[in-house]
Amino acid sequence: TAKPDPLITEVQDWSRYLGEGVDKRPYGTPSRFEKNVIRRDVSWLTASPESSVNFTPLHELDGIITPSGLCFERHHGGIADIDPANHRLMLHGLVDKPLVFTMEDIRRMPRQNRIHFLECAANSGMEWRGAQLNGCQFTHGMVHNVMYTGVPLKVLLAEAGVKTSAKWLLLEGADSSGMNRSLPIEKALDDVLIAFAMNGEALRPEQGYPLRAVIPGWEGNLWVKWLRRIEVGDQPWQAREETSKYTDLLADGRSRRFTFFMDAKSVVTNPSPQAPLKQKGRNVLSGLAWSGRGTISRVDVTLDGGRNWQHARIDGPVLDKSLTRFYVDFDWAGQDLLIQSRAIDSTGYLQPTKEELRKIRGTNSIYHNNGIQTWHVKANGETENVEIG
Ligand code: MTE
Ligand code: CO
Repeated sequence: TAKPDPLITEVQDWSRYLGEGVDKRPYGTPSRFEKNVIRRDVSWLTASPESSVNFTPLHELDGIITPSGLCFERHHGGIADIDPANHRLMLHGLVDKPLVFTMEDIRRMPRQNRIHFLECAANSGMEWRGAQLNGCQFTHGMVHNVMYTGVPLKVLLAEAGVKTSAKWLLLEGADSSGMNRSLPIEKALDDVLIAFAMNGEALRPEQGYPLRAVIPGWEGNLWVKWLRRIEVGDQPWQAREETSKYTDLLADGRSRRFTFFMDAKSVVTNPSPQAPLKQKGRNVLSGLAWSGRGTISRVDVTLDGGRNWQHARIDGPVLDKSLTRFYVDFDWAGQDLLIQSRAIDSTGYLQPTKEELRKIRGTNSIYHNNGIQTWHVKANGETENVEIG
């Protein structure tokens, strides 16, 4: 009784004719049918595209690795265009022997590979005062997760010989913004990498080519791109990015400062406003969880606004300070859903609700919003960013 499917019974062009040869794509790009899978910006958010941000299309991705060309970008002065042969990294200040490294020097030093998320402290910042942006790309897309290859900063510091009075470092970029941040020496001697590669190839220009700082678990602003200078000192520099920016103004007028850690957070990427439910019956809910303080030990998901919670199925590598993928395989009868996820990390910390956060932090700040996100799936599958009490 079923009509024959012409996609099976008719010979299609791609089966009839030879395809393109191996000389056509010396550097591969995605299928032309994946044109929607792109970074997007929100033009009204910032005054110019050079000091701005675009967002990772989280709802189009799977697994834990962000493809290099889809990693969100955040620049304060546009993308520096640097010939690696002309790049220098200076290391000076409270050291026995000030040093200058070329890229060739860096590549001759012992290197490590690490997979880590980078999250901008302003990720989800628009949501502090209520549900704003319709899509996890915009609410949560200031995060990416790649494998870095680089030299541990402690190796460079050992070579220069850090004086005992050293307490802080200043990291500075070679871009037109000359962005800089102060970093405590304990972190520098722990797990910071000076990276030249991501996902196996050279850093992309927009990610700091040829050299960037990788500061695992800490806010993205510290991950200085186009890294050209490290100064060793005995106190923080009180740079613009740690005084007027990247501080959290509380309700009583005081400010939280040096809020380095990115606390545990999660988001359901599918369904979400840009990826509505299409069919009743069998469906896959998918999402991401991460913590700047360790690994993800559990993710809970509710489909009914918090009345019932279930443990999500975590699949793929569960790595320290890395995105972690979770799923809930479920049947949808076509009812309204209020979907939330909450992450629990290896320290036992439970991702808070937005209301819990606001009680302590007020709503003056745009940074460090790791509150639980709610998606409302309607009977027709359309999905909206909402908040529930
Ligand atoms: N480093 C320099 N030199 N200039 C910058 O504008 N932006 C910072 C940080 N490092 C920035 C920088 C901010 S705020 C973030 S969130 C991350 O880089 C973004 O890294 P990405 O562009 O690889 O996503
Ligand atoms: Co940032």
